[in-house]
Amino acid sequence: MEDIRIKSKADYQAAYQESVDHPEQFWAKIADTFDWKKPYDKVLEWEFETPDIKWFQGGQINMAENCLDRYLETQPDKTAILWEPNDPNDDNIAWSYKELHHRVCKFANVLKANGIEKGDRVCIYMPMVPHLAVALLACTRIGAIHSVVFAGFSAQSLADRINDSSCKIVLTTDGSFRGNKEIDIKGIVDEGVSKTSSVEKVIVLKRTEKFINMKEGRDVWWDDEMEKVDANCPAEPMDAEDPLFILYTSGSTGKPKGVVHTTAGYMVSTYYTFLNVFQYEDEDVYWCTADIGWITGHSYIVYGPLLAGATTLMFEGIPTWPDAGRFWAIVDKYQVNQLYTAPTAIRSLMANGLEPVARYSLNSLKVIGSVGEPINEEAWKWYHTYIGKGKCPLVDTWWQTENGSILISPIPHVTDIRPMYATNPLPGVQPIILDKDGNEITEPHEEGLLCMKFPWPSIVRTLYGDHDRMRNTYFSTFKGYYFSGDAAKRDNKGRYRIIGRVDDVINVSGHRLGTAELEDAINEHPWVVESAVVGFPHDIKGQGIYAYIITERDIDSQQAFKDEINETVRKEIGPIAKPDIIQVVPGLPKTRSGKIMRRILRKIAEGDISTLGDTSTLLNPDIVDDIVEEATTVN
Ligand code: WTA
Repeated sequence: MEDIRIKSKADYQAAYQESVDHPEQFWAKIADTFDWKKPYDKVLEWEFETPDIKWFQGGQINMAENCLDRYLETQPDKTAILWEPNDPNDDNIAWSYKELHHRVCKFANVLKANGIEKGDRVCIYMPMVPHLAVALLACTRIGAIHSVVFAGFSAQSLADRINDSSCKIVLTTDGSFRGNKEIDIKGIVDEGVSKTSSVEKVIVLKRTEKFINMKEGRDVWWDDEMEKVDANCPAEPMDAEDPLFILYTSGSTGKPKGVVHTTAGYMVSTYYTFLNVFQYEDEDVYWCTADIGWITGHSYIVYGPLLAGATTLMFEGIPTWPDAGRFWAIVDKYQVNQLYTAPTAIRSLMANGLEPVARYSLNSLKVIGSVGEPINEEAWKWYHTYIGKGKCPLVDTWWQTENGSILISPIPHVTDIRPMYATNPLPGVQPIILDKDGNEITEPHEEGLLCMKFPWPSIVRTLYGDHDRMRNTYFSTFKGYYFSGDAAKRDNKGRYRIIGRVDDVINVSGHRLGTAELEDAINEHPWVVESAVVGFPHDIKGQGIYAYIITERDIDSQQAFKDEINETVRKEIGPIAKPDIIQVVPGLPKTRSGKIMRRILRKIAEGDISTLGDTSTLLNPDIVDDIVEEATTVN
């Protein structure tokens, strides 16, 4: 096995050059470290028009087998998954590769016994318990396509996602613990499933042990089912381009879209990037604080680390409970070597001062990482100085659900680190910055739109059931390029800085929310005539949600109305989508063709009314003054 680890600047340069000059040769070398059931015939075939992208055609492989079986001989007793419960006084869990393999094989048989076959869609709505990882791996072992729905989404969102891909089964728990709260997970599933017609079975894992209703003929207990099956489950040979999973994400228009990742390419990219971005060494304990409900959890809690034979830590709770030292207590408890978290978590912990940090040594840390949103300078410095003690490289990793794996990031001790810069493209990644007319921007420090010229193995293949939307969203803005939706610029050394979304997507605490879907949710309230939602800078969340609402009648109690809107949004999407600021307005600024001028609304939300620009061409210019007068100042 050729070593694919990048250990020096020369390695990086050589790997990058090879990945551009001979991409097939470059990626084949990584793919060949896996156990294939049938060798592939062709490494890559692609075009960005349709688009049609195929990696490792003709090959057959299985994800779960490469995560588990191939480590059974070499390191059966190494801990695969470490699990820290919500309550620090409860027992933790450590499952070895052997134990995890056993559980995955058994649960795969449970799925089969409950009617799941290759290609069936399995919806997973579970909190951060280690069985969630078992569920993912069991699906991939038998070739079922998982669709994980973050267990903070509402019953309605769950139902929409189940319906979009006609899931046959839902895997869930009785409830969940988060900080000092207990959440009625099964109640949400019952309500969600009642709005669907494809679900035949619900498998329920006991977590909180609180009494729940089990629907006769539909609901079965996880543990009971496990007792009925044996542990012999051969891994299904999957075509390299067979779908591996669907993960829904928000776009600038319409309902969330089902991003489809396929098997071999996703494996190659997540494995390679995990090893190199985190410089994982054999005995290390690696911790990513994301939730498996998001792409970061898929790629960098479960698949990347397990493909690399790593010890991956899962945490059930929240950073601020029982106190703001929890993350650091966990780092010391397990002697975590790599910590991968989000700027929003850093900012909220930073707000609690240094005392909770000072209680812990944090000496085990070697690499610290950031993902999900731009990290501001203050948070970067705090994280680097007080958590990384100035000695741990901070990897600011840029990527997206649609990318499957990290695309732009420093490589610790190899490439440069620069605060707020994601810095260099990883090998195999060919970014380009375009202006709005599609011309390349080569000048340093000039902002433009971040695109990709060439496919990497884990690029999105389609949006479930809607390939036209795939083309229109990512491949039609600039012909021949993948368009990320982000603005970026480069410094004079070619290092990238990500500015943020240029479309109508808001990034709230690292969660992507589309303004259209937020407005649809708000409009469900019977008194709402029309609404417009924009993002604004928020100290902790990165971006907050500002909602302008036109109501049908006068509101007696503003507060009561706002509470109702919050409740409506919570029901339609989930608590993460609740607006931070709601302003009832007499009208919305519109162009003569009836389009809402979001630019103006954004400026008002930012408290930046000195540069509203020319409003005289609006259909209703006077409305701007009315809105400004009543606006809630946020800065
Ligand atoms: C943003 C998360 C700046 C970006 C893995 C992107 C970032 C969106 C960074 C994708 C970063 C992610 N610096 N912005 N390091 N990482 N983003 O699909 O706007 O949940 O388009 O994937 O998050 O969010 P998603």
